[in-house]
Amino acid sequence: MKPKKRKLKIGIVGCGAIGSRLAQSIKRDLKDDCQLSSIFDIDPSKSEKLQKTLSNKVIIAPTLDKLIKNADLVIEAVNSPNTKEIIKSIVSSKKSVLAMSVGKLLNAKNIFDIANKNNCTVLIPSGAIAGVDAIKAAKLAGIKSISITSRKPPRGLVGNPYCLKKGIDLLKISRETLIFSGKVSEAVTAFPQNINVAATIALAGDVEKILRVRIITSPKFKTNSHEIEMIGNFGKMITRTENLPCPDNPKTSYLAVLSGLQTLKQYCKGIFIGT
Ligand SMILES: NC(=O)c1ccc[n+]([C@@H]2O[C@H](COP(=O)([O-])OP(=O)(O)OC[C@H]3O[C@@H](n4cnc5c(N)ncnc54)[C@H](O)[C@@H]3O)[C@@H](O)[C@H]2O)c1
Repeated sequence: MKPKKRKLKIGIVGCGAIGSRLAQSIKRDLKDDCQLSSIFDIDPSKSEKLQKTLSNKVIIAPTLDKLIKNADLVIEAVNSPNTKEIIKSIVSSKKSVLAMSVGKLLNAKNIFDIANKNNCTVLIPSGAIAGVDAIKAAKLAGIKSISITSRKPPRGLVGNPYCLKKGIDLLKISRETLIFSGKVSEAVTAFPQNINVAATIALAGDVEKILRVRIITSPKFKTNSHEIEMIGNFGKMITRTENLPCPDNPKTSYLAVLSGLQTLKQYCKGIFIGT
């Protein structure tokens, strides 16, 4: 008889839209491979709300350190200025991490070095874009130019500090307006909650220096869309995703949550298709 495989113990830090959706999906879709061991949120009401929808076996960890100690792999789904430190503590404790806040991993070579030294894995889902597989492959033969154009409804950007600083009154915009054009490092600083996908492209293709990021808004846009154009020695690629919002958080695309789940699934099964 085949020996029973030990289930991977998962911890989730951040019980918002993504963390909660992933928790539900682990319970439903990955129950043969994973066991959700504990959850943690800086706001106890969030972790308590999520726990009520899960089994009693899922513990609310009193601290991040306790959560890390009790897990084989930690899912990071927080919106915090300290996200980089959170990911660093996970890999420093020799635990693997599935990181959703990819913007925080730009210029974080030390995190990858620590993970490598500690023999643990940093999983970065493709998020709400298509073509990451091709970008990784194209990198091997050289990428000449690459850009991402994100289109977002104004309400998804309301409260953004960059727009406030630039005096962009999002609710007064009546036609298609380019509100940002620049480097990925500037984009993730200006839009920390909205442009993780640009960081994913930069890391996948090692194209931080040449990646051009544009953000366009218009009241006519009802959902987020992302267009990527890449030219390299392989040829040319154009992809476009038109994303429906996650039912729990209109700022998060549903495909981003699904890609997190699929990444975890592939890791558990040890089968990597198109990655
Ligand atoms: N990779 C992608 O394609 C992609 C797509 C969408 C969102 N994201 C990113 O994923 C992250 C989570 O997104 P979301 O929609 O679930 O956000 P959310 O706002 O719904 O939830 C974030 C949660 O993190 C908690 N939190 C904040 N600081 C914390 C800390 N120090 N410790 C523990 N918990 C803390 C908050 O209380 C909240 O419950 C964000 O950084 C977002 O930018 C990535």
